[in-house]
Amino acid sequence: MPRSKTRERLRILLRREEIENRVRELGHQITRDFRGQQVHFIGVLKGACMFVSDLIREVRLDTSLDFMAVASYGIGQQSSGQVRLTKDLDNSIEGLNVILVEDILDTGFTLNYLERLLLQRRPRVLLRAVLLDKTERRVKNVKLDYVGFQIPNRFVVGYGLDYTERYRNLRDVYVLSLPG
Ligand code: IMP
Ligand code: MG
Repeated sequence: MPRSKTRERLRILLRREEIENRVRELGHQITRDFRGQQVHFIGVLKGACMFVSDLIREVRLDTSLDFMAVASYGIGQQSSGQVRLTKDLDNSIEGLNVILVEDILDTGFTLNYLERLLLQRRPRVLLRAVLLDKTERRVKNVKLDYVGFQIPNRFVVGYGLDYTERYRNLRDVYVLSLPG
């Protein structure tokens, strides 16, 4: 169990081996789905940095990678429901097979916002991959094409996911409990 600041508790939810196996399966699924084609991955910073970099290495296709960044949770654990683009893509996605890669789907506001934004840029197809899906919390209806794990309504950290920018470096995924 990694150390945390006083009174923050971490309880393991997904071990690194489980994550690794699931990411490999998703990579193989994408490889089958897009056989003979090119796929352009878009990672949503910062949470999806680990997931997208592991995922593309499991894909046996001609791929390219770009990133965008959004701020949805300002600080802490509560979603504001407001999404702001803080870094746009470097390259056009017109006519490309695009897979948007997110760390976690919670209320759905972030993915819904990104999807609308990206569809205006006329990709050939736009699919969505998320590592974690907190189904219970959904406010916006979002279709998912590739899902790592469905998880309960708990705040989680590790494998790219943060709490106030901390814990992203943990190799496993943990449920974080705060005092009080
Ligand atoms: P949504 O817009 O409510 O779907 O939230 C999506 C974003 O909120 C994710 O990309 C994460 O950055 C953040 N988020 C949601 N749930 C968690 C969590 O349990 N841990 C860490 N970040 C989270
Ligand atoms: Mg975050």
